[in-house]
Amino acid sequence: MNDHIRPQPGIMDIALYEGGKASVAGVANIVKLSSNENPFGPSDRAKEAFQRSAHQLHRYPSTDHAALREAIAETHGLDPARIICGVGSDEIIHFLCQAYAGPKDEVVYTEHGFLMYRISAMAAGATPVEVPERERTTDVDAILRACNRRTKLVFIANPNNPTGTMISAAEVERLAKGLPPHAILVLDGAYAEYVEGFDAGAALIETRDNVVMTRTFSKIYGLGGLRIGWGYGPKHIIDVLNRIRGPFNLSNTQLDAAEAAVRDQDYVAKCRADNARMRHWLAEALAELGVPSDTSMANFILARFASPDEAEACDIFLQSQGLIVRRVASYKLPNCLRITIGDEAACRRVAHAIGQFKGVK
Ligand SMILES: Cc1ncc(COP(=O)(O)O)c(C=O)c1O
Repeated sequence: MNDHIRPQPGIMDIALYEGGKASVAGVANIVKLSSNENPFGPSDRAKEAFQRSAHQLHRYPSTDHAALREAIAETHGLDPARIICGVGSDEIIHFLCQAYAGPKDEVVYTEHGFLMYRISAMAAGATPVEVPERERTTDVDAILRACNRRTKLVFIANPNNPTGTMISAAEVERLAKGLPPHAILVLDGAYAEYVEGFDAGAALIETRDNVVMTRTFSKIYGLGGLRIGWGYGPKHIIDVLNRIRGPFNLSNTQLDAAEAAVRDQDYVAKCRADNARMRHWLAEALAELGVPSDTSMANFILARFASPDEAEACDIFLQSQGLIVRRVASYKLPNCLRITIGDEAACRRVAHAIGQFKGVK
């Protein structure tokens, strides 16, 4: 403890982010379904690029990420000059808060929204403002009511984590149009690739100067361990974010693997189809066991139990069976467990174990 050296106001109020558990003491044959990772990992092309990059480890990486931005732009039909790449989409979220929110400013996000919005807002000295959702779904009217002259950023994830629910493009546009002129709408598309044909708000960004989207290589691309994300927005915002980005924020390995991954859209389509098939199967299987969930558009389902006690007991039972899912009490969903869609064997194991927990033979 030192009475003289103190962090900026707000920093000590930040609760540490807890990642999904990866092991259970004394239990072997673990299946980790707690971090929304792709059970099949990255595409072979990404792994090959990763290995090739070993020959370039002595070289500093590019500072402008031109090759990766070009590959992303070609894949999604975007302007490469308005893409920014970061250490996971977490870093883009952080840049946005650092650049646009400070003391006395407010950062709005939804009741069951991703915890990093709050953490990044507080790290910037801004005030986090949490807005209620309606039936675990983003409520545009509630967000608009919460906005005022101090609101600088509004974050929504679409689909949302940990609920898996989505709002329509028309609702997103209504939100963008209704914000005060000094506020930026951030559309977090971490799970966008799981929604067939969804542009995550790219078309809206082309028509407005107050909308940004964030995307990641951590989910469908199976590169969570490598930490790569990106953002897209109007030129005036991307210019600002680039000023606070470290020049070498991404390594050659990150850049090369991500470029190979984004150019392998056949693999993405295969993972999307497999996820949709098993998500449907698991949701139905759990519903039959008396464990409902909202229709999820992402790579997880939010299983609802009768009470927080039942959710906790089920989590403990699943762990004893080697199945690690995510408690989401910190997302104000104490009676729920978030279960990542694994491969078929993992989904069958989860359904079987929840059946045993529920006393179904
Ligand atoms: C909604 C949402 N946004 C952003 C992220 C951050 O992803 P990353 O920093 O790995 O790109 C996650 C990760 O779980 C997420 O669920």
